[in-house]
Amino acid sequence: MSEARKILVTSALPYANGSIHLGHMLEYVQTDMWVRFQKLRGNQAIYVCADDAHGSAIMLRAEKEGITPEQLIDGVRAEHMADFADFGVNFDNYHSTHSDENRELSAAIYLALRDKGHIATRAVTQYFDPDKGMFLADRFIKGTCPKCGTDDQYGDNCEKCGATYSPTELKNPRSAISGAVPVLKESQHFFFKLPDFEAMLKQWTRSGALQEAVANKIAEWLDGGLQEWDISRDAPYFGFEIPGEPGKYFYVWLDAPIGYMASFKNLCARRPDLDFDAFWGKDSTAELYHFIGKDIVNFHALFWPAMLEGAGYRKPTGVNVHGYLTVNGQKMSKSRGTFIKARTYLDHLNPEYLRYYYASKLGRGVDDLDLNLEDFVQKVNSDLVGKVVNIASRCAGFIHRGNAGVLVTANPEPALWEAFQVAAPSIAEAYEARDFSRAMREIMALADRANAWIADKAPWALNKVEGKQAEVQEICALGINLFRQLIILLKPVLPNLAAEAEAFLNVPALTWDDLSKPLADHQLNPFSPLLTRIELPKIEAMVEASKEDLAAEASKPAGNGELAKDPLAAEINFDAFAAVDLRIALIEKCEFVEGADKLLRLSLDIGDEKRNVFSGIKSAYPDPSKLEGRLTLYVANLAPRKMKFGVSEGMVLAAGPGGEEIYLLSPDSGAKPGQRVK
Ligand code: MSP
Ligand code: ZN
Repeated sequence: MSEARKILVTSALPYANGSIHLGHMLEYVQTDMWVRFQKLRGNQAIYVCADDAHGSAIMLRAEKEGITPEQLIDGVRAEHMADFADFGVNFDNYHSTHSDENRELSAAIYLALRDKGHIATRAVTQYFDPDKGMFLADRFIKGTCPKCGTDDQYGDNCEKCGATYSPTELKNPRSAISGAVPVLKESQHFFFKLPDFEAMLKQWTRSGALQEAVANKIAEWLDGGLQEWDISRDAPYFGFEIPGEPGKYFYVWLDAPIGYMASFKNLCARRPDLDFDAFWGKDSTAELYHFIGKDIVNFHALFWPAMLEGAGYRKPTGVNVHGYLTVNGQKMSKSRGTFIKARTYLDHLNPEYLRYYYASKLGRGVDDLDLNLEDFVQKVNSDLVGKVVNIASRCAGFIHRGNAGVLVTANPEPALWEAFQVAAPSIAEAYEARDFSRAMREIMALADRANAWIADKAPWALNKVEGKQAEVQEICALGINLFRQLIILLKPVLPNLAAEAEAFLNVPALTWDDLSKPLADHQLNPFSPLLTRIELPKIEAMVEASKEDLAAEASKPAGNGELAKDPLAAEINFDAFAAVDLRIALIEKCEFVEGADKLLRLSLDIGDEKRNVFSGIKSAYPDPSKLEGRLTLYVANLAPRKMKFGVSEGMVLAAGPGGEEIYLLSPDSGAKPGQRVK
């Protein structure tokens, strides 16, 4: 093989304020498969990522939850890392943009750009929330659409009529954070002079670093003329303060891509064999690839290469863009249960099923990719279980029973073995080009040939014929060797299946080079089924649970409704408190809800009325009948919520972190249903 390549690979850094869902996972699985392929081929491939931890959304969410931003991002990062690990996404390093390395690199890059004259400053007038004391990004302003008059629209566009406008055009503007009427205020901002890099970008975007469709889109932007990019935000902001500019912070998108470098730098500290400059220096001969979704192309194919060039670093070898995931042909939807979190999927299904399905659909282009759940079941069952694993399960028994688990040496069909050898380079080419769907098609065509040959030889019939047992051993030995070929070819996609197959085959970790070396006179380990078929009820349960995740989230006390006054950050006046109709309720009936993992249904007597409430407390009350006859506290004037299982009217009050630790509140004895809390 030619000399090993040095390849640094990244996926986009997920925001640290939400869970990973199957749409994100498309990107991390795609990147992981490509990196695993490079490693399998003997290249030095390094895969780094991090949480994208800065910005006002994260600051506000932490405030809402009553924790510090650092606590929020630490918790989310741990959750993200567990999701990725359980999906087999194997980062060499997973860091955070809120790190020392990133602070230092961001400052150094900014100062280099400033010293070379690529930073401008000028005053910007913007809406400011006088209650909250902060400038408002467009999505934190709501008001009436200036075109069609619809209420409650965001500061940049109207969801009703599709109009786009500037926040100052909104009628009746309100801060989505405090509800206050915003005022216009001026402040000094810092700009990155992107137009300085126009010539470089025109050349670089046509240098082969981008897919053609992406390069064409960028050409439109370049032809339209580049604008200077506002890279600063005023305090309060969760991020890095700009060196020498107190109260001014880097906009999250300035330090986010630098997070790629920072994660790598953090890895270098543990890995003396890696040299930061060999990968990022101007004269680096290493390859650098960023895998991203189509929504963030401008940041990666315009701003980022310009920043790197301006600050004296190398530019990416390639920015690989993928499309968006749809489920059952539509945008992922919370109400349909197709907004599926990575963890919800893992609670029900084997991650390798999805990795294979994504591989079978991912080409080189930027088209959206549909996860059709019926097709998913059908494809996984027919290809992985019916074709690949089937070969091993057809052959292993005869070898264990007829030859004590030892593969014989003779090859009864050299042409078939040869066909696999011939196909391998084309499959490697497809992987290299990120044409995973072609790679999967060609691998399954090989599996079809192997199965057809075994069916034709019918060792199960032959084994009953006197004197044919030696032939049966030869057929099955080739069958197992072909299975091993398929496992090597699929290893970037199915690392767990490959590990289990290696254990069965009784071999060390397989590499691409092993394709040309068949096992002969070799002892196998006992065979146990490597993958089972997907059962439809598992899919249904996952979809149901996704609807429930939503219900659980919506019934959390804080966090629903952008305009709701923040309950933890600010005091409320007595009127606001008095507006809550809090009463004593008697739990008359309490029961499980069919198909819901987390909910109980409570029938409440609240004095003059009966109410029906769904509450996400099942984990703490496995025996719901124990709650019957108990008094609790109840919010009677909460707007009713339509759920999949019926309408929930108001909510009961409980405390505690969750899981088994949820404690329903109760009054002292003597309280009567319907009495109001004062
Ligand atoms: N934090 C930024 C990226 C900074 S990179 C320096 C961000 N985060 S994100 O969490 O919103 O998205 C992370 C990646 O997931 C992006 O590449 C995005 O395109 C991708 N996807 C998010 N939703 C997706 C789908 N529904 N389908 C496919 N990819 C999706 O953007
Ligand atoms: Zn409108």
